[in-house]
Amino acid sequence: MNTSHDSVVQRQFGPQAQAYVESSVHAAGADLDWIEQYVSQLSPTHALDLGCGGGHVAYRLARHAERVIASDLSADMVGAVLETAADKGLANIEGQVASAADLPFADNTFDCVVCRFSAHHWRDFVGGLTEARRVLKQDGVALFIDVAAPENALADTHLQAIELLRDPSHVRDYRPSEWSSALALAGFEIKSLRRWKLRMDFEPWIARMRTPDAHVAAIRSLQEAAAEELRQYFTIEQDGSFVLDTTGIEAM
Ligand SMILES: C[S@@+](CC[C@H](N)C(=O)[O-])C[C@H]1O[C@@H](n2cnc3c(N)ncnc32)[C@H](O)[C@@H]1O
Repeated sequence: MNTSHDSVVQRQFGPQAQAYVESSVHAAGADLDWIEQYVSQLSPTHALDLGCGGGHVAYRLARHAERVIASDLSADMVGAVLETAADKGLANIEGQVASAADLPFADNTFDCVVCRFSAHHWRDFVGGLTEARRVLKQDGVALFIDVAAPENALADTHLQAIELLRDPSHVRDYRPSEWSSALALAGFEIKSLRRWKLRMDFEPWIARMRTPDAHVAAIRSLQEAAAEELRQYFTIEQDGSFVLDTTGIEAM
């Protein structure tokens, strides 16, 4: 069996492609509305949804861009997005199977690159951001949306622990300070940054990743043993549901 990190990602996401198309937590949100509002003013010719998953960014981009590429490491995800785009009558979405760290596009291709809830799975975070900068036109704009780890080490460690137990393809939810450093290394300048809260409903959260029972029990055990300040920080509920911070970064 191939045990590279990329193959772990493909094994985790491939069989769940349809679940990500249908996931309510991915299909809606203030962050998606922000993306759409932003892109409606930009009207890009050529836009990239990087790590497209179930394609929720691509569907929004397609209303305002001439051409949208939905790209993902998982061929199953790209296939599910193309099928859904056809069902929605969105003829301007094309698919591309690719790693974020090795994009098969020429320099300066896109007016707009959007990457939502994908970078925390990448084996090479700075490498992927560097590729995003390379394929973006000089005056193009990138929007990055992801879970934001707390700057506080106690809460950060709790978050990464439950994320990894849930999903072995999890690498790291980065802190806003880590996003800033990595984006600078990749050649981006941050223009603006916003924050949202996102509630994770425990049952669908573990079902989407087919988390084994032993890992579910370990997550619940960590939550039950957590300090009061963590319970409050993540608003941990009786059934394990909790609230995350997410961030939206506009960069050029
Ligand atoms: C949580 S899903 C993305 C959700 C989607 N962007 C949305 O807005 O609903 C994460 C996606 O990132 C993809 N991914 C993980 N690592 C990747 C990499 N190195 N390059 C490209 N895609 C990657 C996974 O295959 C998966 O489809």
